[in-house]
Amino acid sequence: MRGTGSKTEGKGRVVTSVEKIWSRPHLLSIEALSVGEILAVLDTASALKEVSTRSIKKVPALRGKVVVNLFFEDSTRTRTSFRLAAQRMSADVVDFSVSTSSVSKGESLADTARNIEAMGVDAIVIRHRSSGTADGLSRLVACSVINAGDGSHEHPTQGLLDLFTIRETFSQRGRSLSDLHIAIVGDIIHSRVARSNLWALTKMGAKVTLIGPSTMCPPSLSALGVEVTHDLDAVLPHVDVINVLRVQFERLTSAAFPSLREYSHLFGLSESRLKRCKPDVLVLHPGPMNRGLEINSAVADGPRSAILRQVTNGLAIRMAVLYLCIGAASAASGGN
Ligand code: CP
Repeated sequence: MRGTGSKTEGKGRVVTSVEKIWSRPHLLSIEALSVGEILAVLDTASALKEVSTRSIKKVPALRGKVVVNLFFEDSTRTRTSFRLAAQRMSADVVDFSVSTSSVSKGESLADTARNIEAMGVDAIVIRHRSSGTADGLSRLVACSVINAGDGSHEHPTQGLLDLFTIRETFSQRGRSLSDLHIAIVGDIIHSRVARSNLWALTKMGAKVTLIGPSTMCPPSLSALGVEVTHDLDAVLPHVDVINVLRVQFERLTSAAFPSLREYSHLFGLSESRLKRCKPDVLVLHPGPMNRGLEINSAVADGPRSAILRQVTNGLAIRMAVLYLCIGAASAASGGN
Protein backbone atom coordinates (compact mmCIF):
# COMPACT_ATOMS: atom_id res chain seq x y z
CA MET A 1 0.00 0.00 0.00
CA ARG A 2 3.06 2.19 -0.06
CA GLY A 3 2.88 5.35 -2.14
CA THR A 4 -0.58 6.83 -1.97
CA GLY A 5 0.38 9.50 -4.47
CA SER A 6 0.66 12.55 -2.21
CA LYS A 7 2.42 15.60 -3.60
CA THR A 8 2.51 19.33 -2.99
CA GLU A 9 1.37 21.67 -5.75
CA GLY A 10 2.68 25.17 -6.34
CA LYS A 11 -0.02 26.68 -4.14
CA GLY A 12 0.82 24.19 -1.40
CA ARG A 13 -2.34 22.15 -1.48
CA VAL A 14 -1.69 18.47 -0.88
CA VAL A 15 -3.22 16.61 -3.80
CA THR A 16 -3.63 13.09 -2.77
CA SER A 17 -5.63 9.93 -2.61
CA VAL A 18 -5.03 9.93 1.16
CA GLU A 19 -8.17 12.05 1.44
CA LYS A 20 -10.11 8.91 0.50
CA ILE A 21 -8.34 6.86 3.18
CA TRP A 22 -8.32 9.34 6.09
CA SER A 23 -11.73 10.52 7.32
CA ARG A 24 -10.95 11.03 11.04
CA PRO A 25 -11.37 14.44 12.63
CA HIS A 26 -9.19 13.32 15.57
CA LEU A 27 -5.88 11.55 16.16
CA LEU A 28 -6.21 9.89 19.57
CA SER A 29 -4.10 6.73 19.29
CA ILE A 30 -2.22 4.54 16.85
CA GLU A 31 -4.06 1.49 18.19
CA ALA A 32 -7.21 2.73 16.40
CA LEU A 33 -5.51 3.33 13.03
CA SER A 34 -5.54 0.95 10.09
CA VAL A 35 -2.38 0.21 8.11
CA GLY A 36 -3.79 2.37 5.29
CA GLU A 37 -4.32 5.30 7.67
CA ILE A 38 -0.77 4.97 9.05
CA LEU A 39 0.60 4.99 5.49
CA ALA A 40 -1.59 8.00 4.67
CA VAL A 41 0.13 9.96 7.46
CA LEU A 42 3.63 8.79 6.46
CA ASP A 43 3.09 9.55 2.77
CA THR A 44 1.55 12.96 3.47
CA ALA A 45 4.51 13.75 5.75
CA SER A 46 6.92 12.68 2.98
CA ALA A 47 5.23 15.16 0.64
CA LEU A 48 5.24 17.97 3.22
CA LYS A 49 8.80 17.48 4.55
CA GLU A 50 10.21 19.43 1.62
CA VAL A 51 8.31 22.59 2.69
CA SER A 52 10.72 23.03 5.63
CA THR A 53 13.70 23.11 3.24
CA ARG A 54 12.37 26.11 1.27
CA SER A 55 13.59 29.65 1.89
CA ILE A 56 9.95 30.63 2.54
CA LYS A 57 8.78 27.75 4.71
CA LYS A 58 5.05 28.12 4.21
CA VAL A 59 2.14 26.64 2.25
CA PRO A 60 -1.47 27.87 2.42
CA ALA A 61 -3.03 24.45 3.10
CA LEU A 62 -4.53 25.46 6.49
CA ARG A 63 -5.07 29.17 5.86
CA GLY A 64 -7.96 30.42 7.99
CA LYS A 65 -7.76 27.46 10.40
CA VAL A 66 -7.01 27.94 14.12
CA VAL A 67 -4.99 25.48 16.23
CA VAL A 68 -4.65 25.70 20.01
CA ASN A 69 -1.83 23.95 21.91
CA LEU A 70 -3.28 22.91 25.29
CA PHE A 71 -0.38 21.39 27.23
CA PHE A 72 -0.88 20.41 30.88
CA GLU A 73 2.61 18.82 30.96
CA ASP A 74 5.95 20.30 29.95
CA SER A 75 7.24 19.78 26.43
CA THR A 76 10.00 21.04 24.17
CA ARG A 77 9.77 19.00 20.96
CA THR A 78 6.05 18.23 20.65
CA ARG A 79 4.73 21.66 21.59
CA THR A 80 7.21 23.59 19.44
CA SER A 81 6.80 21.33 16.43
CA PHE A 82 2.99 21.45 16.54
CA ARG A 83 3.28 25.25 16.65
CA LEU A 84 5.72 25.34 13.74
CA ALA A 85 3.68 22.75 11.83
CA ALA A 86 0.54 24.87 12.11
CA GLN A 87 2.45 28.01 11.09
CA ARG A 88 4.07 26.31 8.10
CA MET A 89 0.59 25.34 6.91
CA SER A 90 -0.56 28.99 7.38
CA ALA A 91 -2.91 28.24 10.30
CA ASP A 92 -3.23 30.65 13.22
CA VAL A 93 -1.83 29.01 16.36
CA VAL A 94 -2.22 29.83 20.05
CA ASP A 95 -0.05 28.35 22.81
CA PHE A 96 -2.36 28.09 25.82
CA SER A 97 -0.37 28.56 29.01
CA VAL A 98 -1.90 26.44 31.77
CA SER A 99 0.08 28.14 34.56
CA THR A 100 -1.25 31.62 33.70
CA SER A 101 -4.77 30.50 32.79
CA SER A 102 -7.92 30.13 34.89
CA VAL A 103 -6.97 26.46 35.43
CA SER A 104 -4.94 27.89 38.35
CA LYS A 105 -8.27 29.17 39.79
CA GLY A 106 -9.76 25.69 39.60
CA GLU A 107 -11.45 25.78 36.17
CA SER A 108 -11.98 22.24 34.91
CA LEU A 109 -10.46 20.81 31.74
CA ALA A 110 -13.95 20.47 30.25
CA ASP A 111 -14.82 24.12 30.89
CA THR A 112 -11.40 25.25 29.70
CA ALA A 113 -11.74 23.30 26.44
CA ARG A 114 -15.34 24.42 25.79
CA ASN A 115 -14.37 28.06 26.33
CA ILE A 116 -11.42 27.73 23.96
CA GLU A 117 -13.64 26.06 21.39
CA ALA A 118 -16.21 28.87 21.71
CA MET A 119 -13.58 31.22 20.26
CA GLY A 120 -13.82 29.30 16.98
CA VAL A 121 -10.89 26.89 16.94
CA ASP A 122 -10.51 24.04 14.46
CA ALA A 123 -8.15 21.81 16.47
CA ILE A 124 -7.02 21.35 20.05
CA VAL A 125 -3.65 19.65 20.51
CA ILE A 126 -3.65 18.30 24.06
CA ARG A 127 -1.03 16.83 26.37
CA HIS A 128 -2.17 15.68 29.81
CA ARG A 129 -0.81 13.54 32.63
CA SER A 130 -3.96 11.35 32.68
CA SER A 131 -4.45 8.49 30.23
CA GLY A 132 -7.64 8.86 28.21
CA THR A 133 -7.85 12.66 28.43
CA ALA A 134 -7.64 13.21 24.66
CA ASP A 135 -10.35 10.63 24.03
CA GLY A 136 -12.59 12.20 26.69
CA LEU A 137 -12.04 15.67 25.23
CA SER A 138 -12.95 14.46 21.73
CA ARG A 139 -16.41 13.56 23.08
CA LEU A 140 -16.88 17.02 24.61
CA VAL A 141 -15.96 19.33 21.74
CA ALA A 142 -16.92 19.54 18.08
CA CYS A 143 -13.45 20.54 16.84
CA SER A 144 -10.59 18.15 16.08
CA VAL A 145 -8.60 16.77 19.01
CA ILE A 146 -5.01 15.62 18.58
CA ASN A 147 -3.35 13.62 21.33
CA ALA A 148 0.11 15.01 22.11
CA GLY A 149 0.63 12.45 24.89
CA ASP A 150 -1.85 11.24 27.52
CA GLY A 151 -0.34 9.74 30.67
CA SER A 152 1.20 6.37 29.97
CA HIS A 153 -1.40 5.57 27.26
CA GLU A 154 -0.18 6.87 23.86
CA HIS A 155 1.86 9.56 22.10
CA PRO A 156 0.68 8.87 18.55
CA THR A 157 2.65 11.55 16.69
CA GLN A 158 5.86 10.31 18.37
CA GLY A 159 5.07 6.74 17.25
CA LEU A 160 4.41 7.99 13.72
CA LEU A 161 7.60 10.08 13.55
CA ASP A 162 9.63 7.13 14.82
CA LEU A 163 8.03 4.91 12.17
CA PHE A 164 8.68 7.57 9.50
CA THR A 165 12.36 7.81 10.53
CA ILE A 166 12.80 4.02 10.45
CA ARG A 167 11.05 3.72 7.06
CA GLU A 168 13.07 6.64 5.61
CA THR A 169 16.35 5.05 6.73
CA PHE A 170 15.71 1.48 5.69
CA SER A 171 13.89 2.17 2.43
CA GLN A 172 17.18 3.75 1.23
CA ARG A 173 18.76 0.36 1.98
CA GLY A 174 16.04 -1.52 0.09
CA ARG A 175 14.39 -2.91 3.21
CA SER A 176 10.78 -2.67 4.30
CA LEU A 177 9.35 -2.27 7.78
CA SER A 178 8.12 -5.86 7.82
CA ASP A 179 11.77 -7.07 7.44
CA LEU A 180 12.97 -5.28 10.55
CA HIS A 181 13.61 -6.23 14.17
CA ILE A 182 13.24 -3.32 16.60
CA ALA A 183 14.35 -3.26 20.25
CA ILE A 184 12.56 -0.87 22.61
CA VAL A 185 14.71 -0.49 25.73
CA GLY A 186 14.05 0.88 29.19
CA ASP A 187 11.08 2.22 31.11
CA ILE A 188 8.39 0.50 29.04
CA ILE A 189 5.64 0.39 31.66
CA HIS A 190 5.41 4.19 32.06
CA SER A 191 5.99 4.94 28.39
CA ARG A 192 3.30 6.22 26.05
CA VAL A 193 6.04 6.34 23.41
CA ALA A 194 6.59 2.58 23.81
CA ARG A 195 2.88 1.89 23.45
CA SER A 196 2.50 4.00 20.30
CA ASN A 197 5.67 2.48 18.81
CA LEU A 198 4.48 -0.97 19.62
CA TRP A 199 1.13 -0.49 17.86
CA ALA A 200 2.72 1.23 14.85
CA LEU A 201 5.51 -1.31 14.36
CA THR A 202 3.45 -4.46 14.86
CA LYS A 203 0.71 -3.20 12.52
CA MET A 204 3.42 -2.70 9.86
CA GLY A 205 4.68 -6.26 10.40
CA ALA A 206 7.96 -5.49 12.20
CA LYS A 207 9.32 -7.75 14.94
CA VAL A 208 9.49 -5.97 18.31
CA THR A 209 11.42 -6.94 21.45
CA LEU A 210 10.87 -5.04 24.70
CA ILE A 211 13.84 -4.93 27.09
CA GLY A 212 14.15 -3.50 30.59
CA PRO A 213 14.22 -4.31 34.28
CA SER A 214 11.27 -6.50 35.34
CA THR A 215 9.83 -3.59 37.34
CA MET A 216 9.65 -1.50 34.16
CA CYS A 217 9.21 -4.25 31.59
CA PRO A 218 7.03 -7.00 33.11
CA PRO A 219 6.66 -10.35 31.29
CA SER A 220 2.89 -9.70 31.03
CA LEU A 221 3.65 -7.25 28.18
CA SER A 222 4.19 -10.29 25.94
CA ALA A 223 0.36 -10.44 25.75
CA LEU A 224 0.71 -7.51 23.30
CA GLY A 225 2.27 -9.89 20.77
CA VAL A 226 5.91 -8.96 21.32
CA GLU A 227 8.96 -10.58 22.88
CA VAL A 228 9.94 -9.45 26.38
CA THR A 229 13.39 -9.94 27.88
CA HIS A 230 15.63 -8.46 30.56
CA ASP A 231 18.90 -9.32 28.79
CA LEU A 232 19.88 -6.42 26.53
CA ASP A 233 23.25 -7.89 25.55
CA ALA A 234 21.63 -11.07 24.20
CA VAL A 235 19.33 -9.07 21.90
CA LEU A 236 21.71 -6.39 20.60
CA PRO A 237 23.48 -8.38 17.83
CA HIS A 238 20.14 -9.25 16.20
CA VAL A 239 18.29 -5.93 15.95
CA ASP A 240 18.13 -3.31 13.21
CA VAL A 241 16.85 -0.47 15.40
CA ILE A 242 17.31 0.34 19.09
CA ASN A 243 14.74 2.79 20.47
CA VAL A 244 16.05 3.90 23.87
CA LEU A 245 13.45 5.29 26.28
CA ARG A 246 13.86 7.89 28.97
CA VAL A 247 13.61 6.73 32.59
CA GLN A 248 10.53 8.70 33.67
CA PHE A 249 11.48 9.61 37.21
CA GLU A 250 8.39 11.83 37.49
CA ARG A 251 6.13 8.78 37.06
CA LEU A 252 7.99 6.41 39.43
CA THR A 253 6.11 5.83 42.67
CA SER A 254 8.89 3.70 44.20
CA ALA A 255 12.45 2.69 43.37
CA ALA A 256 12.25 0.62 40.17
CA PHE A 257 15.94 -0.36 40.23
CA PRO A 258 18.62 -0.44 42.96
CA SER A 259 20.81 2.41 41.65
CA LEU A 260 21.40 4.62 38.63
CA ARG A 261 24.79 2.92 38.23
CA GLU A 262 23.21 -0.51 38.03
CA TYR A 263 20.55 0.67 35.55
CA SER A 264 23.23 2.18 33.33
CA HIS A 265 25.37 -0.98 33.63
CA LEU A 266 22.51 -3.33 32.62
CA PHE A 267 20.39 -1.21 30.26
CA GLY A 268 22.39 1.88 29.24
CA LEU A 269 23.36 2.13 25.56
CA SER A 270 27.12 2.70 25.65
CA GLU A 271 29.80 2.74 22.94
CA SER A 272 30.97 -0.74 23.98
CA ARG A 273 27.40 -2.06 23.66
CA LEU A 274 27.03 -0.42 20.24
CA LYS A 275 30.10 -2.36 19.05
CA ARG A 276 28.13 -5.58 19.62
CA CYS A 277 25.33 -4.41 17.32
CA LYS A 278 24.98 -4.68 13.55
CA PRO A 279 27.29 -2.05 12.00
CA ASP A 280 24.37 -0.14 10.47
CA VAL A 281 22.07 -0.29 13.50
CA LEU A 282 19.83 2.77 13.89
CA VAL A 283 19.62 4.42 17.33
CA LEU A 284 16.49 6.37 18.31
CA HIS A 285 15.51 8.25 21.47
CA PRO A 286 12.30 10.33 21.77
CA GLY A 287 13.92 12.88 24.11
CA PRO A 288 14.44 14.40 26.52
CA MET A 289 17.51 12.24 27.26
CA ASN A 290 19.06 11.35 30.60
CA ARG A 291 22.60 11.38 29.18
CA GLY A 292 24.88 8.93 30.97
CA LEU A 293 21.94 6.89 32.26
CA GLU A 294 19.93 5.26 29.46
CA ILE A 295 22.27 6.49 26.69
CA ASN A 296 25.84 7.77 26.56
CA SER A 297 26.66 11.02 24.79
CA ALA A 298 29.04 9.28 22.37
CA VAL A 299 26.12 7.14 21.15
CA ALA A 300 23.49 9.88 21.24
CA ASP A 301 25.69 12.22 19.20
CA GLY A 302 27.36 9.53 17.10
CA PRO A 303 26.91 8.38 13.49
CA ARG A 304 24.31 5.69 14.25
CA SER A 305 22.02 8.16 16.01
CA ALA A 306 18.92 9.54 14.27
CA ILE A 307 17.79 11.50 17.32
CA LEU A 308 17.82 14.97 15.73
CA ARG A 309 16.44 13.57 12.46
CA GLN A 310 13.51 12.27 14.53
CA VAL A 311 12.85 15.87 15.60
CA THR A 312 13.03 17.13 12.01
CA ASN A 313 10.67 14.38 10.89
CA GLY A 314 8.34 15.17 13.80
CA LEU A 315 7.58 18.52 12.22
CA ALA A 316 6.60 16.86 8.91
CA ILE A 317 4.46 14.28 10.73
CA ARG A 318 2.64 17.01 12.68
CA MET A 319 2.05 19.01 9.50
CA ALA A 320 0.56 15.84 7.98
CA VAL A 321 -1.64 15.11 10.98
CA LEU A 322 -2.99 18.68 11.12
CA TYR A 323 -3.59 18.61 7.37
CA LEU A 324 -5.42 15.28 7.47
CA CYS A 325 -7.54 16.10 10.53
CA ILE A 326 -8.58 19.67 9.68
CA GLY A 327 -7.49 20.48 6.14
CA ALA A 328 -8.04 17.51 3.89
CA ALA A 329 -11.84 17.64 3.96
CA SER A 330 -12.01 21.30 2.89
CA ALA A 331 -9.26 20.77 0.30
CA ALA A 332 -11.22 17.85 -1.17
CA SER A 333 -14.35 20.02 -1.42
CA GLY A 334 -12.42 22.79 -3.18
CA GLY A 335 -12.08 24.98 -0.09
CA ASN A 336 -8.81 26.34 1.30
N1 CP B 1 9.42 13.31 22.74
C1 CP B 1 8.68 14.25 23.36
O1 CP B 1 7.47 14.11 23.52
O2 CP B 1 9.38 15.32 23.81
P1 CP B 1 8.76 16.58 24.56
O3 CP B 1 8.28 16.09 25.92
O4 CP B 1 9.86 17.59 24.67
O5 CP B 1 7.59 17.07 23.76
